[in-house]
Amino acid sequence: MVTPSGPFRPSQEDLILFRKVYDNEKKRIPQDLPGRVKEIEFGKFRIETWFSSPYPEEYARLPKLYLCEFCLRYMKSRPVLQNHMRKCELSHPPGDEIYRKDTSSIFEVDGKKNKVYCQNLCLIAKLFLDHKTLYYDVEPFLFYVMTTYDAYGHHMVGYFSKEKSSFLNYNVSCILTLPQYQRQGYGKMLIEFSYLLSRKENRLGTPEKPLSDLGSLSYMSYWRTSILNFIAKRDFEKESFSIQDICEGTGFASQDVVSTLQDLNMLTVRDSVLVLTVDRVALQDYIERRQVVALLKLSLTKSLPITCQEPLIDPKRLRWAPFVGT
Ligand code: ACO
Ligand code: ZN
Repeated sequence: MVTPSGPFRPSQEDLILFRKVYDNEKKRIPQDLPGRVKEIEFGKFRIETWFSSPYPEEYARLPKLYLCEFCLRYMKSRPVLQNHMRKCELSHPPGDEIYRKDTSSIFEVDGKKNKVYCQNLCLIAKLFLDHKTLYYDVEPFLFYVMTTYDAYGHHMVGYFSKEKSSFLNYNVSCILTLPQYQRQGYGKMLIEFSYLLSRKENRLGTPEKPLSDLGSLSYMSYWRTSILNFIAKRDFEKESFSIQDICEGTGFASQDVVSTLQDLNMLTVRDSVLVLTVDRVALQDYIERRQVVALLKLSLTKSLPITCQEPLIDPKRLRWAPFVGT
């Protein structure tokens, strides 16, 4: 664990929460289950897996699988992988590149058009998720794969899947950052991207439940920061706004906005009316605790807005139209 230094330290609450999640996740990782893929080789990384995944039986029993990082095909040995890499025609995910900024790209992959790729992606995701997710029935889903580019190609960082049409307004079905890229902000970029798509569709979105512990932590953190950002940009001492305004400004479903505001102690009942109250000092304190002073455009004067985070995704770089069809 990294010891916090400098004036902005995580609070005791943050540390307790981190310890709880860390211990829970550790307990849930079956350390010595026989007949489970315990490691995958993926590009230049060897990754320890967390859970079992329903690979075909002859593969699922092997301790290690060798994956092509571009087409995601799984193999039993390194020589087979090396042979495959000489022939593999992909150097990026199949589908359309719908976003690019610097070396980061996002590709939209249709589960119907690229079935095997998407099935293999789901099998990888299950290695890091303990609850059931989809594996083979990928056709009703779109997959948004984030990559980072170098001279060898577009290397997968993570992805999320999304139903082509969701009755419950789910805008993320399953989200994953590969372990070697975790805790570097990519999860939040993927989450932000999912809401950008929802806003383009003129819909409010919410992730499919249940969330994993890590999923919950990431979403709660993202919702908190985005809602505080929304509030900080307003002159809230003069101008009133509603929960509906926050939903429309962020793309978040109302239940997620309400639970986040409750979590921030910003909702109170006065004379049987639900009132949203913003404490400027608490808002500033929260911003400082997030240790993003370098990114802060902080001013407590009325003329300049307080923001606690630069946009993670640049909406202007999106080349996309909502899905139509089956
Ligand atoms: N312990 C404590 N906090 C954590 C941890 C951790 N291990 N991992 C992430 N966080 C916090 C970060 O600190 C950050 O909050 P902060 O900005 O307030 O500090 C927030 O979560 C997001 O961090 P990112 O770096 O943006 O997220 P990351 O790239 O690590 O991805 C994700 C998060 C996708 C949940 C990743 O942990 C993952 O793939 N986990 C395994 C699969 C999974 O559980 N997916 C979610 C299932 S729920 C669903 O799919 C709808
Ligand atoms: Zn390949």
